[in-house]
Amino acid sequence: MEPTQILAAVSAGLTFLLLLMRHVLRRKSTLPLPPGPRGYPLLGALPLIGPAAHVSLANLAKRYGPIMYMKLGSCDVIVTSTAAAVRPFVTTLDLQFSNRPTTIASAKHVSYNGNDFIFANYTPKYKLFRKLSTLHMLGNKAMTGWADVRRDEVRLMVKSMHESSQFGKLVIVPETLICAMMNIVGRVMLSQRVFDATDPELGSYKELLKKLMTGGGLFNIGDFVPAIAWMDLQGVQAKLKKGHARMDGMVESMLARHAATAKEREGCPDFIDLVLGSELRDEEGEKLSYVNIKGLIMNMFKAGTDTSTIIVEWALAEMLKNPTIFKRMQSEMDTVIGQDRLLEESDILNLPYLQAVVKEALRLHPSTPLSLPHYSFESCEINGYHIPANTRLITNVWAIGRDPDAWDNPLEFDPDRFLPGGKAYNIEPHGNDFEFIPFGAGRRICPGKQTGILFLQYLLGAVVHGFDWRLPDGEVIDMKETPGLVMPKTIPIKAFVTPRLASTAYPH
Ligand code: HEM
Repeated sequence: MEPTQILAAVSAGLTFLLLLMRHVLRRKSTLPLPPGPRGYPLLGALPLIGPAAHVSLANLAKRYGPIMYMKLGSCDVIVTSTAAAVRPFVTTLDLQFSNRPTTIASAKHVSYNGNDFIFANYTPKYKLFRKLSTLHMLGNKAMTGWADVRRDEVRLMVKSMHESSQFGKLVIVPETLICAMMNIVGRVMLSQRVFDATDPELGSYKELLKKLMTGGGLFNIGDFVPAIAWMDLQGVQAKLKKGHARMDGMVESMLARHAATAKEREGCPDFIDLVLGSELRDEEGEKLSYVNIKGLIMNMFKAGTDTSTIIVEWALAEMLKNPTIFKRMQSEMDTVIGQDRLLEESDILNLPYLQAVVKEALRLHPSTPLSLPHYSFESCEINGYHIPANTRLITNVWAIGRDPDAWDNPLEFDPDRFLPGGKAYNIEPHGNDFEFIPFGAGRRICPGKQTGILFLQYLLGAVVHGFDWRLPDGEVIDMKETPGLVMPKTIPIKAFVTPRLASTAYPH
């Protein structure tokens, strides 16, 4: 045997031994797993998770602690439920947990098999998605460029509410808000309005979105016990597939219309024009594919519209239950803006109470109660516990926002806590104060955070300043939640509104 061959054989043998040792050491960690429920054969702790998973997990955490380990089917899962428990996962272990699990319900059926932005692993393609979105749509500079679109659509929303009031028609809050949001996002991305306020499709689209966003929740049995995924025991997969096909059709026809009208936009490109024309490539030299672009559009329509409308509706529900808060917000706006014109975005800086109400709604009613799941690619240690590789991380944002050790009277809707003199003054939802992370934290924090906060403030402010609200006689506000990936009110708010500003303030 030639010396070089001997050397190669020895080196191959050593590499094999090293890999073997690493494998054995990883499997045989002497450290214990974090505490958690033992569960049942095959299903693990799945039977312990009720339909409101955020509540079941919060209750289990009371027993097992803020960093909890469990098997769900064949999957290793960690659940964090306090600010201190979240910290290491979004700081020192942030990179290890930056992937997403490949779930059938969410990633496969509604996210083009992980080829979109939201369910992509932390790959070069993911980084390209993030860069392009920040540069051309969600970053501060880009957002300034589409201020007129937001203004137009908020004014059109107020106009349609004003018309409803003239005809004594009920305002269906989620439909009204989603119409404005879809049109804003549609115009910024593809220069296309999607709905008209009187569109008969609006209600059924809102229902579809609700089904996709709640159905894409985390606890599809087939995701945890892959051997029986084909049975689709809860019928979730079939529903998601059907809903996704309808949305995909909508996105494809929007893209076709976009291509056909390219000439009309010469000199004023929209987001998709900029993305398609961008020379930016990922570290592997690739651009976004057609499927990536469809995924991106669908992500922005879903993540960017439903999240915001859900929180505005929850804020309104809390305020209709507590008219003192409603009146105080109107009074702040009357002092700052007066009653002769509508709210403008530039007013928001001078409206601390409006800002505090929005923060309080984000704390008590985060639109994604369990954030989005993360997935690790390496085993690690934390607080003396071993966490195996390929573990799914669930952050119970809902429980963290209601942790009595972090918040006084946590179940009370009390915007004052965020004002000067309040205990949470200076606490911001930007991913650094871990007791308040409605947008997540770490490298996968919501890229639409700034946009989302602005949408919440602008929409809520506009409908509260512009109108007095009254529920139909004999009705009270119902606070039931429909849990899933997002958590809307189960029963939508339907109310009569009465204009309260000078008649010239309303667009005609
Ligand atoms: C009030 C509004 C919003 C809330 C509460 C919210 C919340 C969240 C949360 C919790 C995540 C997951 C973070 C994580 O994985 O750790 C997320 C991700 C994301 N959000 Fe938002 N979001 C909002 C608005 C928006 C808007 C307006 C857009 C865009 C128009 C947007 C686009 C996205 C995208 C693309 C992701 C995926 C990021 C990734 O996977 O790295 N969101 N959002």
